Amino acid sequence: MGFQAFRSSFLDFIADPFFVPEAESVRYFADGLMVLEDGMIKDLGAYEDLKGTYAEVPIVDYRDRLILPGFIDTHIHFPQVEVLAAYGEQLLEWLNKYTFPAEGKFHDKSYAQKVATVFLDELMRNGTTTALVFATVHPQSAEAFFEEASRRNLRMIAGKVMMDRNAPDFLTDTAENAYQESKALIQKWHNNGRLLYAVTPRFAITSTNEQLRLAGKLLEEFPDVYLHTHLSENVNEVELVAQLFPDSNGYLDVYDQAGLVRERSVFAHGVQLRDDEFQRLSAAKSAIAFCPTSNLFLGSGLFKLTKAKSAEHPVQVGLGTDVGGGTSFSMLRTAHEAYKVVQLQREKLSPFKALFLGTLGGAKALYLDDKIGNFGVGKEADFVVLDVKATPLMAFRTPNPTAHSLAELAEKVFTLIILGDDRAIAATHIMGELAYQRDLT
Ligand code: GUN
Ligand code: ZN
Repeated sequence: MGFQAFRSSFLDFIADPFFVPEAESVRYFADGLMVLEDGMIKDLGAYEDLKGTYAEVPIVDYRDRLILPGFIDTHIHFPQVEVLAAYGEQLLEWLNKYTFPAEGKFHDKSYAQKVATVFLDELMRNGTTTALVFATVHPQSAEAFFEEASRRNLRMIAGKVMMDRNAPDFLTDTAENAYQESKALIQKWHNNGRLLYAVTPRFAITSTNEQLRLAGKLLEEFPDVYLHTHLSENVNEVELVAQLFPDSNGYLDVYDQAGLVRERSVFAHGVQLRDDEFQRLSAAKSAIAFCPTSNLFLGSGLFKLTKAKSAEHPVQVGLGTDVGGGTSFSMLRTAHEAYKVVQLQREKLSPFKALFLGTLGGAKALYLDDKIGNFGVGKEADFVVLDVKATPLMAFRTPNPTAHSLAELAEKVFTLIILGDDRAIAATHIMGELAYQRDLT
């Protein structure tokens, strides 16, 4: 691979704009040069400053484009591609009517392989370079996903779902089976190349206490694997959890009693969380995946982002598409809906904060900010090339693609978030290599 260089505008984050003034958290080069060595970032700066040092390196010219770190989707289900746009139900009915039947098909590994390909193609088309991914209960579904992600050299986290009750027979395992199968998958795939494993009990309703306890045992045995589950999404769900676990002090406590609330634990949704639960997540350094398109589509409610990002009890937050409860693979669209969810609570989500959640914020939530999330020297060069004039409307709204001040940049980013989607993704690069180019497909 050797050296590669890219000339473009570059935008990334070097701090959290929820806690540090935006001018100090945003890094921007209107005419920049990014140099890679063997797929890792070697240098980034103004083109004029760096061109002499790297005069020998051939330059890929992306002028008039905007390069961002690849998007990071902190919660998505690869087997739910065909569940997108399922009409009319809220969470528990939606699971039974649409989602469980669709997931049943993944006992067939060749079907799982086919869907994994479609799914990862779609992530690349949307500039999403890392995701935290649910498979199904079938170990072969996780195998199919990891094999395809490995073939593409992607940094992905995934896991086989654990569920031993309150689901159709064709989708349930047992506490002991789930433990053994998950363990075998961890040993095979965790830290295999760029891949990582997440122990994945679906949610409290579909696991017995024994299964949750064994999930906790896996985390003890393999302390650097992830825990990925759903939490406090929907009012009826929270009520059912209280009935199923009468000895718990609320939904989060069910997971806490099993040893599942810790660093590298990622909880999707958290729409119905109580204040003390936010505080517990903060103390435990766990993360929440905020999934606005899903929370609106399934009628779950409005996630309290401002509370999650409070100075007193900050919780790590990333953005999740939650396909197929969510309605789009696009992290731009997801940021757009996040903005509206915050608006409905009479608060503001600035364009930079929204973009942070989809890049460095996601990397921090996944404890991967030493590897991805911005263009720091030594990081893996997964990045997305944006066309801020992708549609006639965007071109009208943003006639000049290059911003020359922070205020101008904020306006361009906001337009991108509100009007942009997969059409704005001109290219996606993985470890420097071209993985998707809009105009060629
Ligand atoms: N809770 C349990 N399973 C699911 C799922 O598949 N999607 C969503 N959105 N919530 C869940
Ligand atoms: Zn989900």
